[in-house]
Amino acid sequence: MKVGIIGSGGREHSLCEALSKSKKISKIYCFPGNAGTQKIAKNIDINVDDFEILKNFIVSEKIELIVVGPEKPLVEGIVDFFENNNIPIFGPNKLASQLEGSKIFTKKICAKYKIPTAKFGIFENINKAKLFLNNAKFPMVVKADGLAAGKGVYICENMENAENAIEEIFNGKFGEAKNVLLEEFLVGEEMSYFVVSDGKNIKKFETAQDHKRVGEGDIGKNTGGMGAYSPSRLINKDLDKKILDKIIYPTLNALKDMNCEYKGFLYAGLMIVKNEPYLIEYNVRMGDPECQTILPKLKTDLLEIILGCTKRKLDEIKIEWHNQNSLCIVLCSKGYPDKYKNNILINNLDNITLDSNQKIFHAGTKNENNNILSNGGRVLNFVCLENSFKEARNKNIQLINKVNWTDGFYRKDIGYRVIK
Ligand code: AMP
Ligand code: GLY
Repeated sequence: MKVGIIGSGGREHSLCEALSKSKKISKIYCFPGNAGTQKIAKNIDINVDDFEILKNFIVSEKIELIVVGPEKPLVEGIVDFFENNNIPIFGPNKLASQLEGSKIFTKKICAKYKIPTAKFGIFENINKAKLFLNNAKFPMVVKADGLAAGKGVYICENMENAENAIEEIFNGKFGEAKNVLLEEFLVGEEMSYFVVSDGKNIKKFETAQDHKRVGEGDIGKNTGGMGAYSPSRLINKDLDKKILDKIIYPTLNALKDMNCEYKGFLYAGLMIVKNEPYLIEYNVRMGDPECQTILPKLKTDLLEIILGCTKRKLDEIKIEWHNQNSLCIVLCSKGYPDKYKNNILINNLDNITLDSNQKIFHAGTKNENNNILSNGGRVLNFVCLENSFKEARNKNIQLINKVNWTDGFYRKDIGYRVIK
């Protein structure tokens, strides 16, 4: 069968690579893909925001399944659009995608269904929000409601920071704001928890921990993710059951009460406080770089899992994993997450030979006249599966040194909590 993948990052290259191993797939198309996907799939450079143009291409090429990587098209209703046109697509519909598209939608579900989360207030103007600050404890968290490419969250140390954040949000930094969310600051350790759902059944899909801050020791600005490891060091049977019973099932039941079924990957961003889970946010997709970190551990054919979902037969699929630990390091353009240059040559990739337990996934890259050029802040993802996280990290660093891209930088301390 022919499959189409929407997106262009490291997550999508890893999805593409996992699917390319499926014997049932004859051809993969990536919309638009990157220099890595181009080696195993056909990259199609069309405007994915225009669902009609995308559909015309998909129909003309007889593509039978679409897999959506990023959140934006999901929140904009790509799944509803293709399902209305009877084209199988893997991902949650527009209403279910509000779990990521609106933090306030999710917080209201948490309140109604008693899902553990940081205490919060929703305020519809600057004055009401500022009034609340008079009695607030710091640090506290200020959040824009909608999608903000990871930038709409402010951890505020004092009144002045919080007032500035509230003003920026209402002044339209992340688009028109009807509300602002103020939240208690939770102290604990973060974990990324994934399930996959067909609307009727769910299956667990591994855990990971990522490093969001740009600097070693988890300091500096927030990024999309500088590296990750899987499994999480925090997960245990007791915690796993609490996450499912207190967070995942109540959320899916809340959607059912709205006549909505969840289909696709669901990613719960959790804060673990003394073995108790609190929901920080939902994402309606795989994480990036968690996806690149987790998929190499997957033994089961990813296509079978996805078809299990689109056909509502996920209960018939057994998801199996390799036992080894996985660790991913992201090589970024110098300057990221602020200003950085694109179109810088990456020379050595063709000379590199990988062991069977190593992967290099492309993120922000493009191929021009057979040259690989940088094309984004996060450029390459180095992933290694090993018995120990330490060995996995060392092997990744050796590989990064071989690539020797002097315009890039990376964190050498990914996984420090699990590496002594
Ligand atoms: P989000 O985009 O909601 O994941 O927030 C980005 C990051 O801000 C999270 O990964 C956390 O590190 C941090 N964060 C968000 N909400 C809270 C909270 N209530 N308490 C502590 N940290 C938070
Ligand atoms: N790694 C965080 C995210 O994908 O949102």
